[in-house]
Amino acid sequence: MTYHSEFKRSIEQPEDFWREQSTMIDWHQPPQTIWEKLENGHGHWFPDGTLNTSDIALDAHIRAGRGEQKALIYDSPVTDTQQSYTYQELRDQVAVFAGALRNQGVEKGDRVIIYMPMIPQAVIAMLACARLGAIHSVVFGGFAAHELAVRIDDAKPKAIITASCGIEVSRVIEYKPLVDDAIAEAVHKPEFCVLYQRSQVTASLIPERDHDWNNFVSGAATADPVPVKATDPLYILYTSGTTGKPKGVVRDNGGHAVAMRYSMSLVYDARPGDVYWAASDVGWVVGHSYIVYGPLFTGCTTVLYEGKPVRTPDAGAFWRVCQDHKVNILFTAPTAFRAVRKEDPEADQLRRYDISSLKRIYLAGERLDPPTYEWLREHTGLPVLDHWWQTETGWAICCNPVGIDMVQTKPGSATYPSPGFNVQVLDPEGLPVQAGEQGDVAVKLPLPPGCLTSVWGDDDRFKSTYLSPIPGYYASGDGGYIDEEGYVFIMGRTDDVINVAGHRLSTGEMEEIIASHPAVAECCVVGANDELKGQVPLGLVLVKDGATISEEELEEELVEMVRERIGAIACFRQAIIVDRLPKTRSGKILRRVIRQIADGQDYAVPSTIDDPAILEEISQHFSS
Ligand code: COA
Ligand code: AMP
Repeated sequence: MTYHSEFKRSIEQPEDFWREQSTMIDWHQPPQTIWEKLENGHGHWFPDGTLNTSDIALDAHIRAGRGEQKALIYDSPVTDTQQSYTYQELRDQVAVFAGALRNQGVEKGDRVIIYMPMIPQAVIAMLACARLGAIHSVVFGGFAAHELAVRIDDAKPKAIITASCGIEVSRVIEYKPLVDDAIAEAVHKPEFCVLYQRSQVTASLIPERDHDWNNFVSGAATADPVPVKATDPLYILYTSGTTGKPKGVVRDNGGHAVAMRYSMSLVYDARPGDVYWAASDVGWVVGHSYIVYGPLFTGCTTVLYEGKPVRTPDAGAFWRVCQDHKVNILFTAPTAFRAVRKEDPEADQLRRYDISSLKRIYLAGERLDPPTYEWLREHTGLPVLDHWWQTETGWAICCNPVGIDMVQTKPGSATYPSPGFNVQVLDPEGLPVQAGEQGDVAVKLPLPPGCLTSVWGDDDRFKSTYLSPIPGYYASGDGGYIDEEGYVFIMGRTDDVINVAGHRLSTGEMEEIIASHPAVAECCVVGANDELKGQVPLGLVLVKDGATISEEELEEELVEMVRERIGAIACFRQAIIVDRLPKTRSGKILRRVIRQIADGQDYAVPSTIDDPAILEEISQHFSS
């Protein structure tokens, strides 16, 4: 089997192809129907199959005799802790926590929000929900109370599971006040909260509503896995769209399990017993797919790392973890290695550690800039593999098909479409462009298993965002091109989504916050290039006539507002006060040109511009 024949079969005979892949997981009731077409080329995978995701991740390995193998290694330089769990131990803790949730009334279909730092209890909580057929929604711990409130109102959870604090490099972040504020702000009120007390902070609990984790599980009977339909939701994961309201990406159980299992072989060539480390956070899709589900479905040992690539304590942190746990496969965002390279340009730290266990390094989440790629390759001597995917797809749309045969990499390219993804580059009319020409990157429907099945509570939004823009295709929101040899190059978003340190953020949301300041008449936020974080948001603000606030004060207040509403993770640090914003004659702000000016790039004056002189004014603001 070669990549090309496997790819061809996945596109021409998708049902046969995915039927075969579906046999890799332990179903409760294997599916008879592989694909059920709904409308517009969209549909459901494995509609009559039943399974339980926690059973596949844990119990199945115990049945197969791997109960004593390490399932999870928790490595936390910020608390100086290392701890591991075998499959048996992890299963037991998950089953008890699930039993305790069940005692409190959580059942199949209920939503549970998990707002936690990178500790094993976060993984236990996710798998416990899956065990009951409850739908988890993990909210990244770096988001502020308001963001949590928005998600509470959208998902309407029965419970929130949290911890007393998260630990950043230079500060401890108390979570409980954020959870309390979020619940106060939200219209929907969860019935109860479970809080894991960490030794750094003891949070106070609200009687009747809040439960201490240890008391909560004490004496609870274990829960067995509840079989669910393949099409039942496993989780909701919110991601930034172009508006202030995040989209709840819905992932099903069956398609997800099959896709995760397949991707672990295809993309990572991971086998049972391999030590797999995705240095990300369970709050992001990388954490869901490749800290928790993918490695555990495959019988690997997954590493849960509570730390940073630098400053915990130094730029050797990643190499130290690889050595200590004999990591075989490492996956992170390019930003992480840009940070390491900045602090340790000659990779001196690398020479202090034995990383001979490491076979390959994977990068995704943002564009892999060729200098970072070359630096990593040169210093580690290992294959460095870029792959392109999104929260919506849950696994790589494009990758180097290492599990079939590793092909030559090209700097700047995420290599080939993964089997199942019929990737096309289209012009504004929806027609395919020539090789090498840039356009909108789209996937011809159907999407393979594992991709989003809807937007939570808003199927119309799902269709209007992803399916309607180009009939018959999934619109990825990314632009790029495919070269003569079929290599795919992703050049960046074509919408108002930006990527800051591998974190996806909406400039539209920041604009809504800035515009709510009483002195602001109008504003726009663009993503400007940043050497470390890829992009950072940059605000251009027009002040209302008669406003007396100074420029410095206004900038300070706007920075604080964005930090307060979205979180420090937004990295919004600069607001430039301008006299006018460049617009088209129909009133649309010319964000692309602003971005080009901010990045010091050449730009073409758009023919639709209302007044070209504004561009010169904006340039002067940036140069002053
Ligand atoms: N909880 C609370 N706050 C958090 C947080 C969390 N889980 N994660 C980050 N923050 C805060 C940080 O403390 C920082 O606050 P500050 O402005 O007060 O200093 C702010 O959010 C920005 O964080 P970050 O982008 O992480 O910047 P940094 O300067 O602390 O670290 C890097 C820079 C490059 C080391 C870091 O961005 C990194 O490790 N990136 C890897 C990217 C990654 O894993 N992406 C996941 C997708 S694969
Ligand atoms: P997220 O949903 O947070 O994973 O972000 C997805 C977005 O990140 C994509 O739409 C791309 O814009 C960007 N992205 C992810 N991986 C890559 C990659 N390998 N190369 C270029 N951009 C990427």
